[in-house]
Amino acid sequence: MTVICPVCNNPINAANPPFCPHCGVRILPLSQKVFSLIQKILLDGPATVLCKPRKREHLLPPIRLREHVGGDGAFEAVGNRFLDHFKTHGGLKPYDSVLDVGCGSGRMAIPLTTYLNNDARYEGFDISRDCIAWCKEHITSWYPNFHFQYVDVFNNFYNREGTIRPEHFIFPYDSDSFDFINATSVFTHLLPKDTEHYFSEISRVLKKDGRCLISYFFINPESREYISKKKSHLDFFKVGEGYYSMVKDVPEQVIAFDEEFIRELYAKYGLAIKEPVHYGSWCGRERTMDFQDMVIAIK
Ligand SMILES: C[S@@+](CC[C@H](N)C(=O)[O-])C[C@H]1O[C@@H](n2cnc3c(N)ncnc32)[C@H](O)[C@@H]1O
Repeated sequence: MTVICPVCNNPINAANPPFCPHCGVRILPLSQKVFSLIQKILLDGPATVLCKPRKREHLLPPIRLREHVGGDGAFEAVGNRFLDHFKTHGGLKPYDSVLDVGCGSGRMAIPLTTYLNNDARYEGFDISRDCIAWCKEHITSWYPNFHFQYVDVFNNFYNREGTIRPEHFIFPYDSDSFDFINATSVFTHLLPKDTEHYFSEISRVLKKDGRCLISYFFINPESREYISKKKSHLDFFKVGEGYYSMVKDVPEQVIAFDEEFIRELYAKYGLAIKEPVHYGSWCGRERTMDFQDMVIAIK
């Protein structure tokens, strides 16, 4: 049942209490009996009873959860910049169904709440229990079409207790169900076999003509040259065939791939790269779109 919020006059899905997603007023859920009684009294009265409006707090996770996704200082700026990338380069529309792989503490989800409308669907999953708990409590409570899921997947850096091997993890969504998939700074923490499996899952859950935006550190002739000339901010060494790290004991702390290895995965899993690749400034390049290398692809 759709009702009109008496405070901001926007339609609200009454199945989604307790807050109007537009103005944040609290909707007091009523039993059918009480509701019918009030309706009788008010005749054609409003379908909601309102408490004192709750002031919506500024959506910003605590510092510990901002640090989980890599530094707290630029949390909001990075999120806003990526929203712009999603719209400008990824063709994101306000009504799209969006999957955020490794959504962390909502760095992308928070700005997306200002862009996606009530018909849109946002799904985020992550292997950090604390991040997901915060997102559910602070984002879903205001934006009921934003859903978050904790998944107990192993990562040598982020979740050493994880019980599911990443190369076996099946994304908990139907096939062909998303218009847009984001994986920002996630494949920079996955080993090659896990990356290949995540590619197969992204390809499975993406709709035909759906787009995905994934960020990487690409080792290619240009970035090699910057690294060898000591211009790079990051200094990778080879760990195994096709991949590199900066941390010997825990390579997953930061992973780079041979660009060719990743290009082969796009081809293998039916994702066409929308050229040009947006190479990043991490290795010392100038005039770039962002810090990491960014690939947009279409199924
Ligand atoms: C650098 S953070 C980026 C988070 C988020 N994408 C962002 O840009 O704000 C990397 C995230 O990937 C998550 N992660 C690591 N391995 C994962 C996996 N196998 N599946 C899903 N998420 C994973 C971590 O918990 C962490 O939140």
